[in-house]
Amino acid sequence: MTVARSPSCSKDRLDPRSKSSLLLCRSSGSTCNRPLAKSSCPVCATTPVSRRRWSLDSIDWQAIRTDAVGEPEALFYLVAAASFMESTTDRYTRNLIDQFFGDDEITFWLEQHWLPEEIQHGDVLRRYVQIAWPNFEWDRAYESFLDEFSAYCCADGLEPTRTRELASRCVVETGTASFYTTLSRVSHDPVLATIAHRIAEDEIRHYKHFYRYFCRYQQTEPATRRAVFAAFSNRLRMISGEDSVIAIKHLYKIRRSGARFDNKICRNLRRNSRKLVQPHFPYRMCVQMLLKPLGLGPRARRILVPITEILARRLVP
Ligand SMILES: [Fe+2]
Ligand SMILES: [Fe+2]
Repeated sequence: MTVARSPSCSKDRLDPRSKSSLLLCRSSGSTCNRPLAKSSCPVCATTPVSRRRWSLDSIDWQAIRTDAVGEPEALFYLVAAASFMESTTDRYTRNLIDQFFGDDEITFWLEQHWLPEEIQHGDVLRRYVQIAWPNFEWDRAYESFLDEFSAYCCADGLEPTRTRELASRCVVETGTASFYTTLSRVSHDPVLATIAHRIAEDEIRHYKHFYRYFCRYQQTEPATRRAVFAAFSNRLRMISGEDSVIAIKHLYKIRRSGARFDNKICRNLRRNSRKLVQPHFPYRMCVQMLLKPLGLGPRARRILVPITEILARRLVP
């Protein structure tokens, strides 16, 4: 299990050294190409909002208990794979932002809040991996991961309507919120537990934003329950897909100095991760978040939540 994203990424990667400087302001209606991250936009005179609730400086890096980290090998793959997927967020962001062009509230939030926070998740996890497993060459592994992952990505993974795409994003944030909640419970290292807890809070907040926007679009461009369910299914298929396998493969090859990687090894690694995660996975929270956009009545919810939870315990993660 990893933080799986989507194959809907753009091949034109933003420059990782200047992520924030490439964010464009569209709040004025006319596109302003001035950087927003560090100064106010001169066209619309909005103040850049990068008021993150925490940063890398809030983490007590000295307190990392490498002895605790050294316990299960599966934890390394969970954390490092998550660091890869989060660090790659800017690759599958541009077409999402483009889909909401003209909706200033959503594009502003995506560019000024959501994307910087996702990138920060990648940064904090990368630094954690580099400290906790100092022999692991994160940069080299990430580079080789990107080589393959970029070719695998295509730009057509968005849902056909905004309402459906917002439902689909609720699924993504449900997955990440559940994953980091699990990670915060799995880890014996208080630093990793804190990091995972903070990221989980961000992901739950992201979910709430996407859900609120989904409700807004349901008023003007309604999607039937069937259409929402189709968006869910599409996204769930992507989540269980190829991207986590690609991450695990490149992690394994660098960690084991170029050792051969095959399906059997991959299955074993994923099985070990599942074993570690399953007792701690927040099934009830995950199911409640997942079902919410379906707009079920109280009676249907009372029946469906426990049934779906039983199913989820068999199928997830
Ligand atoms: Fe994230
Ligand atoms: Fe998120």
